[in-house]
Amino acid sequence: MQIANDVEIKGAYKRYGTNVVLNGINLDVKQGELLTLLGPSGCGKTTTLNLIAGFLEADEGAVYIKGRNVTKIPPYKRDLGMVFQTYSLFPHMTVYENLNFGLKLRKVANPEKDKRIARALELVKMAGLEKRYPRELSGGQRQRVAIARALVVEPELLLLDEPLSNLDAKLRHELRAEIKRLQKEIGVTTIFVTHDQEEALSLSDRVVVMNQGKIEQISTPTSIYKHPETEFVFQFIGKSNSFEGKVAAVDQRKVTVEMNDGITYVDRGNVMGGCSDCKIGEIVKLYIRPEKVRIFSTDEEPEPLWDLHKAKISQLNYLGTTWEVEVQLLNQSIQILTPQYDANWCPGSEVLVGWNPSDLMMIKK
Ligand SMILES: Nc1ncnc2c1ncn2[C@@H]1O[C@H](COP(=O)(O)OP(=O)(O)O)[C@@H](O)[C@H]1O
Ligand SMILES: [Mg+2]
Repeated sequence: MQIANDVEIKGAYKRYGTNVVLNGINLDVKQGELLTLLGPSGCGKTTTLNLIAGFLEADEGAVYIKGRNVTKIPPYKRDLGMVFQTYSLFPHMTVYENLNFGLKLRKVANPEKDKRIARALELVKMAGLEKRYPRELSGGQRQRVAIARALVVEPELLLLDEPLSNLDAKLRHELRAEIKRLQKEIGVTTIFVTHDQEEALSLSDRVVVMNQGKIEQISTPTSIYKHPETEFVFQFIGKSNSFEGKVAAVDQRKVTVEMNDGITYVDRGNVMGGCSDCKIGEIVKLYIRPEKVRIFSTDEEPEPLWDLHKAKISQLNYLGTTWEVEVQLLNQSIQILTPQYDANWCPGSEVLVGWNPSDLMMIKK
């Protein structure tokens, strides 16, 4: 049986004057999944979330929640829990009162009410702080309470708009792991907005990468990283090195590309958009992730089928678990991330660098 969709957006467009903010959004969110909307500031993430929440109506298109067309239904009739980046809590109410607010509206009676509040606070590790006011809590604690307040009403759908953006790095890591655990424990279908790619990759069942009001790709975190479908996704997710080259030959299996110091090969499967129209002489861009470039030590036998190039180290930075090495190859800087380190390396060292052709991506310009 096919898993039901909890949310569907069909053909949504939104304009402000001449500014096209959503340019044909189609999206399905599966039951129980944690989906993130990821993209740079201004790409339309909050607008998309607001369509689902009902704070905003699209110029065209429709929104369905659990199969029901809610396009014209106001937010308070949509059964949602929401958490925002800031100002989520009512400042003049205690933690208990903040959680109680939605339950009162829904006419949940005691003792069920107190039981639910206690359980929600326990879930976010805030039990015992019922009497505090938001000003008496740290930023992280406030967002925990905001999450508890969204969950206490047992919503059909949990919507979070950059809830961790105002927290410091350590707390952000901690809380995102907890949101993940919590979401799986309760099983509530969740849409999480972020501009932080690491956050999206670590949290999500699926990631929706957005750019200028459009969806570029919807995939699992690993396939977003390993098989980006557009140049935007490739550049937005993770780091990459790029070179220019010229197509020298195309065969069944690979494309041969000329670079200044020789040739390199690209698997046909790694040509973005396919290679049915690859032309000899065409200028293309080649991309490779920093962790996919290897530096071979002098006493090491390089991998036989790899592309090898002579390069010179220009910088070495120790990052804790890895080394970031910058080398000059063909008058170009290349970033390399490597867990191994050779004590002989120093700025100015001549080294052999290489990569597996299957890790090289090619984009036609
Ligand atoms: N009420 C509004 N009036 C005019 N422009 C808006 C309004 N709300 C959002 N926008 C514009 O729509 C675009 C997308 O906004 P938003 O969805 O908030 O982006 P994101 O959440 O991805 O940062 C931005 O260019 C923003 O300036
Ligand atoms: Mg936003």
